[in-house]
Amino acid sequence: MNLTLKVWRQKDGKAKGSLETYEVKDISPDSSFLEMLDMLNENLVNEGKDPAAFDHDCREGICGMCSLYINGEAHGPGKLITTCQLHMRSFKDGETVYIEPFRAAAFPVIKDLVVDRTALDRIQQAGGYVSVNTSGNTQDANSLPIPKDDADKAFDAATCIGCGACVATCKNSSAMLFVAAKVSQFALLPQGKVEAKRRVLNMVKQMDEEGFGNCTNTGACEVECPKGISLENIARMNREYFSAAVTSEE
Ligand code: SF4
Ligand code: FES
Repeated sequence: MNLTLKVWRQKDGKAKGSLETYEVKDISPDSSFLEMLDMLNENLVNEGKDPAAFDHDCREGICGMCSLYINGEAHGPGKLITTCQLHMRSFKDGETVYIEPFRAAAFPVIKDLVVDRTALDRIQQAGGYVSVNTSGNTQDANSLPIPKDDADKAFDAATCIGCGACVATCKNSSAMLFVAAKVSQFALLPQGKVEAKRRVLNMVKQMDEEGFGNCTNTGACEVECPKGISLENIARMNREYFSAAVTSEE
């Protein structure tokens, strides 16, 4: 199949970017979206031009690095998949495809399609750890019963890969779904109770300092999240935050 690509090109964070038009021919419908971009870049290199910078790592939906806005949708068409799991059979021969970076004030463009998402790392660093007894007298995990429902919900929250699609999709550029997942994965488990108050207060504080917008319950984040993180987590984080704020002695 042949495609016309409109790709966002931007030299660096200060430069003014624009959409550039490229033709890519003989693309296999079975190739992935990132393999199609590899073809584009091979063509550009062969023509002596600067290849388009884009983020990727695992290429199997687990690292959260790939982060493209494709035809106006984070991670492109298709539900519960990342950009690297998107295949070219999702597009029609001859189609024009728009490829842009994730856009949010807290995600400044580094180059072309690559944005700086370290704000998400700083939120996790602000509170995302648990105290573990490593003294040699560690308790066997099986001796600590955890209700199945709580274990399942904690596991579901922990599947967040930190891609930032929720932020890019939200009209307010809110990071609430991401932070709620990171709070919930610990809040639901006994091991996470020790620092629960401090964790939620610090993570929300850092989220606000990074310049993310507020949540207005539009639910767009949940729709575009490749891991199906539920809005239920935001409600849980709000409960955790309220409870911590009114009882915290710090
Ligand atoms: S909540 Fe979903 S969309 Fe947001 S960072 Fe996690 S995996 Fe990505
Ligand atoms: S490259 Fe790792 S999730 Fe897409």
